[in-house]
Amino acid sequence: MKILLLGKGGQVGWELQRSLAPLGELVALDFDSAPLCGDFTNLAGLAETVRKVAPDIIVNAAAHTAVDKAESEPDLARTINALAPQVLAQEAQRLGAWLVHYSTDYVFDGAGKRPWREDDATAPLSVYGATKLEGERAIVASGCKHLIFRTSWVYGARGGNFAKTMLRLAQERDSMKVIADQFGAPTGADLLADITAHTLRVAMQKPEVAGTYHLVAGGVTTWHEYASTVIAYARARGVPIKVSQDAIEAVATSAFPTPAKRPHNSRLDTGKLQHTFGLTLPDWQVGVTRMLIEVLESGK
Ligand SMILES: NC(=O)c1ccc[n+]([C@@H]2O[C@H](COP(=O)([O-])OP(=O)(O)OC[C@H]3O[C@@H](n4cnc5c(N)ncnc54)[C@H](OP(=O)(O)O)[C@@H]3O)[C@@H](O)[C@H]2O)c1
Repeated sequence: MKILLLGKGGQVGWELQRSLAPLGELVALDFDSAPLCGDFTNLAGLAETVRKVAPDIIVNAAAHTAVDKAESEPDLARTINALAPQVLAQEAQRLGAWLVHYSTDYVFDGAGKRPWREDDATAPLSVYGATKLEGERAIVASGCKHLIFRTSWVYGARGGNFAKTMLRLAQERDSMKVIADQFGAPTGADLLADITAHTLRVAMQKPEVAGTYHLVAGGVTTWHEYASTVIAYARARGVPIKVSQDAIEAVATSAFPTPAKRPHNSRLDTGKLQHTFGLTLPDWQVGVTRMLIEVLESGK
């Protein structure tokens, strides 16, 4: 089995390098890899890479994920999030290879409170959301065997993340404001990578599982509750936290104006994934606690 992984240096790509390794021979590339091209702005180079590697599975973890920046560089975001995945899908179809791709709850408008299901109507609010939706559609239209995982609020233990930023601010400030009217589930890049490997093993035996799935950790929270949980955990473990728990103020999204509009309701219904693959998605606190332990221990 040969697997081509693109975007190996991102949050999810980093964890996929670990989780995909036992499945077969792994060729992992980044935007600046050489001699094989992994640059999503070089569409011809990308197609040539797929032809040269001739993988059984392509896993695409690369994306233009700078949601606010995408508003001022829509062409670049479209190339990376829609046109490059289209090239991968066309090459996968030609080879008979599987394509795994990640998408986002930002394809929805975030209305209401019900968790979004896979076949709910899409209506992106941002350039990022619109380009990710175009990428999904191009993959489906290509006719290649695919798994598209829509996820949300992704964090990795490596590099920066929301929890680390909150911990830093909590040690510097007497008060903090955190958004409390967006609802979702923080989802670990490690969980996404592990589920990808599990589902691929099923898909290789049962091609009829191809399709789009919602994949997030269990439960629901807000950024405010997420921050409060992280800060309380660190305080209890002796981290010198300056802010008191009741000085973490819950505010509306409008308190932090941004170029890109965010959905209020990022809840995703994962029933289809759990039922199809016989998997259980642990509660968001499980992965966040694990990540916190790693972060706090690495600081010792
Ligand atoms: N992060 C989230 O909260 C979130 C939420 C929902 C869905 N998703 C989706 O989940 C997937 C993985 O996201 P992530 O959190 O792992 O994002 P990430 O950490 O930003 O990783 C994306 C990777 O793509 C790379 N990349 C950017 N431009 C490229 C180009 N021209 N050619 C090749 N690679 C390029 C980035 O490199 P540089 O870092 O060097 O730019 C980075 O390594 C994406 O499809 C994303 O849309 C993410």
